[in-house]
Amino acid sequence: MNFEFYLPVEVLFGTGYADKVGEVGKRFGYRVLVVTGRKSTKENRTLERVLNSLTRNGAEEVLIYDKVETNPTDKMVNEASKLVVEHRIDYIVGLGGGSSLDVAKAVSIVSSNEGYAWDYVNYPEGPRLIPFLNRPVICIPTTAGTGSEVNRYSVLSNTLRKEKLVLSHSLNYPKVAIIDPTTTVSMDRRLTAITGIDALMHALESLTNKLSNILAEELAVKAITLIKKYLPIALEEPENLEARSYMSYSAMLAGIAIDRKRVALIHGMEHPVSAHYPNITHGEGLAGLAVAVTEFNYKGNKDKYSLFAELMGYKPQPHMAVKAVEDFLEKVGMRVSLKNLGVEEEKIERLTEDVYMLSRGLFSINPVEPTQEDIFKLYEKAYAGF
Ligand SMILES: [Fe+2]
Repeated sequence: MNFEFYLPVEVLFGTGYADKVGEVGKRFGYRVLVVTGRKSTKENRTLERVLNSLTRNGAEEVLIYDKVETNPTDKMVNEASKLVVEHRIDYIVGLGGGSSLDVAKAVSIVSSNEGYAWDYVNYPEGPRLIPFLNRPVICIPTTAGTGSEVNRYSVLSNTLRKEKLVLSHSLNYPKVAIIDPTTTVSMDRRLTAITGIDALMHALESLTNKLSNILAEELAVKAITLIKKYLPIALEEPENLEARSYMSYSAMLAGIAIDRKRVALIHGMEHPVSAHYPNITHGEGLAGLAVAVTEFNYKGNKDKYSLFAELMGYKPQPHMAVKAVEDFLEKVGMRVSLKNLGVEEEKIERLTEDVYMLSRGLFSINPVEPTQEDIFKLYEKAYAGF
């Protein structure tokens, strides 16, 4: 048995812990940039909680960058990085969904090194620049899905190039993750489902791909079990703090699992979708692709797909994983086709080309190695849906 594990992130998990940010952050300095979205953290007052905590603990300057949107762009990272340099910011707080956390982490890299955000993203041939410095980042997720608070990834879109790529580097880990389930309670039903499905797909893809890491797999297994149980409860009872807590916990576990074992073709095929259609969220795109890709993949790792089916409450047979994915999406109101989501049929060729050009690094670890034709057919299936 061989495995490697490295996770340089301090995790503080607990009800009310978002109020600790100032106390935690003062070890990094007193000049802070808070990176967040336009609306939700203001409406649910999480931003206010964070600002109060920072002020209470002696922060001298607190700037807010609040232009992050779903599918964040390299431009947002560049803009916020400029603020960090101009105002000599000591540390960055990422507050919000995965988008805000991903931007905060990338700002840490871009503000501390030369060049721009797009210089650091992973094309198949590697990034143009390698960072050698960063700034401390504290991540406070207000959704339960992305797991970005505990891993090294920032997923960014370039709207001119219509590309979505991942910045992945050991300097891109946050220093601290403050996970406070109370911050997720105000998510509406749709957002709860979208982000919960992202977490489930992290767990499914990291469990089943060809990389081997027993510890990451244990985390994925636990995440699947908990999401199956608690996502439906969180949808029915949004104020149920036990369900919210287990969803935050599962998202964290799955976030660590993908840090070690990566994702696979569902994610590889989703990124071009939300790159070309920025109004489609990551979780919706995954939901639109999950059934078709699982049907393609399950023969490549019969043991793990059987295990997945079993964890989801089905007979432990590999093909039952397809049914498990399908039924669960239905149950949480996420059984969608790419057509439903607004993808145009004539775009399928371009999406296929982009997967090949930008995500072919994932092909060899996918349970079944796909050809370009396979990907085209999978998009067609996911477009037609059911
Ligand atoms: Fe994801």
